[in-house]
Amino acid sequence: MSAKPVTGTENRQTERQDNWWIEPLFTVLSLGLFGVYALWVAWNRQHFEYGPYLSPFYSIPLPGVHAKDLEWLPISPAFLVLWIPLGFRATCYYYRKAYYRAFFWDPPACAVPELRKAYKGERAFPFVLNNLHRYFWYLSVPVVAFLWYDAIRAFFFEDGFGVGVGSLIMLGNVILLSYYTFSCHAWRHLAGGCLNCFSKHKTRYTLWQRITRINEGHGFWAVISMLSVWFTDVYIRLCSMGTITDIRLF
Ligand code: FES
Repeated sequence: MSAKPVTGTENRQTERQDNWWIEPLFTVLSLGLFGVYALWVAWNRQHFEYGPYLSPFYSIPLPGVHAKDLEWLPISPAFLVLWIPLGFRATCYYYRKAYYRAFFWDPPACAVPELRKAYKGERAFPFVLNNLHRYFWYLSVPVVAFLWYDAIRAFFFEDGFGVGVGSLIMLGNVILLSYYTFSCHAWRHLAGGCLNCFSKHKTRYTLWQRITRINEGHGFWAVISMLSVWFTDVYIRLCSMGTITDIRLF
């Protein structure tokens, strides 16, 4: 059955009969819980390390600086870096769609009326800050580079090179984060935007084509990489607390 067109904000009904509310509900729960968890982890300052494994929340993007070197700081060192990935995700085009729908009901789904009477788009504070997304991308690239460094370090134990379950989890996490970061719309525009003729810029065209391929799944990379950061921290935390034992594969 096709939905009746909504003609004004006075019409608060929808004729959709499918479970359209599942997606916004999932978004509220996953983003809300992840946000609370990230702040708690940063505040907690404990159990962020186990052997060569380091929680992604405590990866400081400064050469030679480990989170433990910054224990003298009055605030958790995690806060020094947390604002970059959180700002990157909060301004991401995928997350914008997700939280406008789920948190602001703006609108919650296709053919379901929105709640707000006046629509200002992203021209008013604080949503105008979403235009900073490309700058958060510039800041996120070194963060991902340092996470690669941490993931490689996770294969070097006290007795030398080895592979533990945690090493593979950290490697998988940084691969997913790289897909998320490098499927970004702002990066795609940076690579192939503002060109009148692709044939005169073969390298940029090839790069743009490759980014476009992974950009098609950007929403998927956004969700799965968030879950993998969460999972990686939980795994390292539980190992550090002695709740589980990391298995050394060789
Ligand atoms: Fe999602 Fe840039 S659009 S990270």
